[in-house]
Amino acid sequence: MNIAMLGSGFIARFYADTLHAQRRVDRIINVYSRNADNAKRYAEDYGLESYSTSMEEIIMDESVDVVIISLPNHLHEEAVMSCVKAGKAVLCTKPLGRTAKEAKRMLEAVEKAGLFAGYLEDLCYTPKFLKSVESVNNGSLGKILWTKSREAHPGPHSDWFWDKDQSGGGAIIDLGCHCVEIGRNFIGKNVRPVEVMCWADTQVHPIEAEDHAIGLVKYENGAIGQFEVSWTFRGGMDLRDEVMGTEGTIWLNSFLRTGFDLFTTGKGANYIAEKAESDSGWLFPVGDEAHELGYPHMFTDMFDAIDKGRAPRETFYDGYIVNAILDAAFLSAKSKNWKRIIIEDWRGSEGRTGEKEYNSYDADHFLIKKEILPNGDEKLILKHKDSGKMIQKTLKK
Ligand SMILES: NC(=O)c1ccc[n+]([C@@H]2O[C@H](COP(=O)([O-])OP(=O)(O)OC[C@H]3O[C@@H](n4cnc5c(N)ncnc54)[C@H](O)[C@@H]3O)[C@@H](O)[C@H]2O)c1
Repeated sequence: MNIAMLGSGFIARFYADTLHAQRRVDRIINVYSRNADNAKRYAEDYGLESYSTSMEEIIMDESVDVVIISLPNHLHEEAVMSCVKAGKAVLCTKPLGRTAKEAKRMLEAVEKAGLFAGYLEDLCYTPKFLKSVESVNNGSLGKILWTKSREAHPGPHSDWFWDKDQSGGGAIIDLGCHCVEIGRNFIGKNVRPVEVMCWADTQVHPIEAEDHAIGLVKYENGAIGQFEVSWTFRGGMDLRDEVMGTEGTIWLNSFLRTGFDLFTTGKGANYIAEKAESDSGWLFPVGDEAHELGYPHMFTDMFDAIDKGRAPRETFYDGYIVNAILDAAFLSAKSKNWKRIIIEDWRGSEGRTGEKEYNSYDADHFLIKKEILPNGDEKLILKHKDSGKMIQKTLKK
């Protein structure tokens, strides 16, 4: 496929490094940037046919099949609407919108026009993540009760992120969008997120937006999705997820510990990894960053989906739900109360409260707990089904 790239900054380069690597067949053919020098440099670096400071011109190019939006958050809607006007398939980076309202307008526009629209949520495509979701889906962890996702680093790399009007918020919108979608994937996208409790503060930087937040997203089936996001974290980029179910647990570390530790005095100092704060001492580089961050699998899914006429794993609808959850998080942080998540167009299942199943020990008792003691005895805690009385039973070794 022929791809048009909108934006020539940080993520546009990550995407190009992925798309033009490893003998891939889909190619970026042109690029839009508001700055002609940056557009030219990007076009030269990636061997593109053309570049322009006009977004329309790049999208309208008749050989373009798919447009990738790599622009700051406040420009996503305008860019999506231009793709709709041109009738082009569109892939948009995260977050889809600054608010659910914005995201919903984009969702409705692409659906009305019948266009393919993919949400570029790379962290839901890392090889570890895909395998984890598979384990969850095949029941290895039982029912998912609690997910925890953290993205924390010392802050983003461009001015617009730090300006609330352009970005839509601080760490919540920038990083929370990843964490919330990671939680949804594990808990089940079909399960309705109902309310959010969030703490947020501006602990370090002289900015209007929050630079640190911790939130809980409650789902209709009783599961809880925790997110921890920060622009105040020192020591690199901390990307960790945890999934806790009735039958098992998964812990993932996607960046600071990928099994590659390096010590250097600093001689020959170079780029180490995204948001690394040092280039000497013990360092934690990443073998193939794009791969560890999920970009190759993400684009493979997107382009396969276009070819096969199916939806990708991450859609504009997912982007809209994420924005709806984040809207509630902002309101909760302000009010210090649980806030209902307003989803005007819920497409998942309904009425999944009270989905609890208890293990029976025998006809009369529930099995609460079984444990082997240090002396080898097995201890059972049982609850009588009628009287509710707790008893314990010891099976001697
Ligand atoms: N993991 C991820 O998926 C990931 C990582 C980083 C950024 N992003 C997202 O990618 C988007 C871009 O972020 P980035 O890190 O590449 O930012 P960046 O600042 O590095 O690049 C932004 C690009 O947009 C251009 N631009 C900035 N302001 C503009 C304006 N007013 N008009 C026209 N062009 C303008 C810049 O010149 C640059 O080409 C954001 O939505 C961000 O959230 C996603």
